[in-house]
Amino acid sequence: MKAAVFHKVGDVSVDRVGDPRVEHEEDIIVKVTSTAICGSDLHIYDGFFPQFKDQVLGHEFMGVVEETGRAVHRVKKGDRVVVPFPVACGHCFFCNHQLPTHCENSNPEHYGPQGDLLKGKGGGLYGYTDLYGGYAGGQAEYVRVPFANFGPRVVPEGVTDEQVLFLTDIFPTGWTAIDWAEVKGGETVVIFGSGPVGLMAQKAAWLRGAGRVIAIDRQAYRLQRAAKVNAVETLDAHDDDLIEKIYEMTDGRGADVCVDAVGMEASRSVRDKIKAVLNVEKGTSKVMENCFEAVRRGGRVSVIGVYGSPYDNFPVHRLFDKAIRVQFGQAPVQKYIDQLFDLTLEGKVVLNDIISHRLPLSEAAHGYEIFKKKEDDCVKVVLTP
Ligand SMILES: NC(=O)c1ccc[n+]([C@@H]2O[C@H](COP(=O)([O-])OP(=O)(O)OC[C@H]3O[C@@H](n4cnc5c(N)ncnc54)[C@H](O)[C@@H]3O)[C@@H](O)[C@H]2O)c1
Ligand SMILES: [Zn+2]
Ligand SMILES: [Zn+2]
Repeated sequence: MKAAVFHKVGDVSVDRVGDPRVEHEEDIIVKVTSTAICGSDLHIYDGFFPQFKDQVLGHEFMGVVEETGRAVHRVKKGDRVVVPFPVACGHCFFCNHQLPTHCENSNPEHYGPQGDLLKGKGGGLYGYTDLYGGYAGGQAEYVRVPFANFGPRVVPEGVTDEQVLFLTDIFPTGWTAIDWAEVKGGETVVIFGSGPVGLMAQKAAWLRGAGRVIAIDRQAYRLQRAAKVNAVETLDAHDDDLIEKIYEMTDGRGADVCVDAVGMEASRSVRDKIKAVLNVEKGTSKVMENCFEAVRRGGRVSVIGVYGSPYDNFPVHRLFDKAIRVQFGQAPVQKYIDQLFDLTLEGKVVLNDIISHRLPLSEAAHGYEIFKKKEDDCVKVVLTP
């Protein structure tokens, strides 16, 4: 089959690789019909998460069940399914606590309690390096999906792929940020990053009754899309007085909720880059720190942008002085997906209005390039095998 294969930093090509097979009785093989490129894929593409062997990328995918292992009872051959990005067993301690990204059974070689750079990672993720289980991903014609009685959800007839594809990751991820912040209605929510994840967090904030939603990015075209599809207010991240502006917009207090939907690959000054080299840091924690500044006393910060290393001078004093509650982490997609499926099918939210590029899988390399470099007004790339 053909698949988008990561070879080394900046080098993804569509190659012929072996077809996946059922390896375990709870596996299924899915014939992929749609798959997307994610900001998280860029962390591998850019070398922030190390991967030394070739790897089929992709954790946002859906398709038709082609083959099932003997113990699979929740889906059958011919079903159309969307698949949550965390590989999770559904019955371990963490799965039972609705924490599927911490599954104890999906990353046997590198799993552990440490959560360090190279040691003791969480559960497996599709197409996300050997440290996260070494699973071949779904930017491919076919993909093996383990634990098929827990992850995949069947898509009803009459619904297009594009309507539900983002239930695999980015809509539940945006929702996670808003749910962690316990948005109940009327809050001012400031979302740093207006890429696909930020755009989904904006949608989730409105769905949960936010009073104001303010989007921040460095790319004017992404803010324009945010204003257009999500009717949010916007601020330019280049603005030297960004934090002051947020205070002004919030009676001098700061926002009730701030979301970091950027992560460690935020744009950096030369000084930031030197500091990172000296301190052996990956990228920068600047946006997370912006959130701590911009949030009000007693407010909440959700960090869904990805971080992969420790940071020196972490502003713990500010967290203490302002009594900020922070929650970090990967999205527990399986926890939210059914509820979000319903909202989507009921037409309460539209997800596909963020797609800027539809390309054949064979053009995956081009898709990675324009998504990374933010060329051609690229927001979200959907690939079809
Ligand atoms: N927690 C999870 O489960 C989860 C799931 C999916 C994605 N993610 C992460 O979410 C983050 C965003 O993903 P994405 O797909 O939207 O990626 P993306 O790279 O397209 O979006 C990031 C956006 O941040 C903007 N940005 C850069 N520097 C900024 C700054 N200083 N201030 C404000 N905005 C800035 C960029 O212009 C870009 O629009 C990534 O780190 C990704 O890995 C996390
Ligand atoms: Zn993703
Ligand atoms: Zn588990």
